[in-house]
Amino acid sequence: MQALLLAGGLGTRLRPLTEHLPKPMAPVVNRPWLEHLIKHLQSQGLSDFVIAVKHNADIIRNHFGDGRRFGVNIAYSQEPELLGTAGAIKHAEPLLTANRFIVINADIIHHVDLLPLLEFHQSSGALVTIGLTEVEDPSQYGVVQQTSSGRILRFVEKPPRHKAPSNRINAGIYVMEKEALAWIPAGREVSIERETFPLLIRKGLPVYGCTVRGYWLDMGTHDRYLALHRDALDGKIDLQLPYPRKMEGVWIGENTNISSHAILIPPVVIGPGTKVERGAVIGPYAVLGENVTVHADSRLAHAVILPGTRLAQNRVFRHAIVGPDFLITTRPAEIPRQGVMQQ
Ligand code: GTP
Repeated sequence: MQALLLAGGLGTRLRPLTEHLPKPMAPVVNRPWLEHLIKHLQSQGLSDFVIAVKHNADIIRNHFGDGRRFGVNIAYSQEPELLGTAGAIKHAEPLLTANRFIVINADIIHHVDLLPLLEFHQSSGALVTIGLTEVEDPSQYGVVQQTSSGRILRFVEKPPRHKAPSNRINAGIYVMEKEALAWIPAGREVSIERETFPLLIRKGLPVYGCTVRGYWLDMGTHDRYLALHRDALDGKIDLQLPYPRKMEGVWIGENTNISSHAILIPPVVIGPGTKVERGAVIGPYAVLGENVTVHADSRLAHAVILPGTRLAQNRVFRHAIVGPDFLITTRPAEIPRQGVMQQ
């Protein structure tokens, strides 16, 4: 079955990380998320992909090419302008070869089992089946109201917690029949969540929801991006860390230069070519990209450092995403020096 991956959005909430990078290419433990995603989908038996691109499209095209290097086939649907989540699907129509396909928001981090979703779609006779995920607090999301057979009656946007008809939200994974595309107008921006699904439901067409199981996270904001790294280092999502494990919770790439007077507090991932100077304290929950330099006596914890970044000496980076030309902190940056050194 073909999978259409939506990867063209601006990723405004993750800026400046996404200024020069499509959000699905944001590194997740030092590998573009889209690479992890394609690998996971491959393990589910999918090998034929269409990637819908727009914002910084060349970065995706240059990385994956025709997919051969990754053992899959990839075609690209290039939008002339941003067409929104449904507009992008409509634009990809000429590349969709079968009557049924899967659509996945490529910025959703998930390791879910797709087979139950496909089986449900087949047995319910749905036009569209929306993968649903259960969240603790649905008040931030659009939740669904369903019949006992799973048919979706309506979406309720950001309901107060006690008034929510369910805690199930759109997981950004859909199984669609090609006929559904007739309901999406061509050549303009269309949102699948706000326009297409409500329209199909209003028209009485069979739109079903099926809860998917497994790790799921929308990495769209800075704090969730960091939470994702924490979960990956805790093994909550199995992402195959990219380098050999040197000791419990410590993964280090090639050609690193780590001072014997630096302290590593697991879990820690250190990319190839990275230098850590004396007195630096790395971790817990630190991911250093390729060719990073941590100058003497700096300390970082709960931090993701992007490739090529140089961290000044004697600074503290905590709950931070740091790139060569930006620093994002999701909580007060300073932590007491003693707090880290004592560990
Ligand atoms: P924000 O600006 O932070 O909301 O991010 P976004 O618009 O990039 O992502 P959003 O969560 O709204 O979209 C879900 C997925 O659809 C992401 O993987 C986006 O890359 C993708 N997407 C959103 N809009 C478009 C579009 O117009 N074209 C294409 N091809 N993909 C899109």
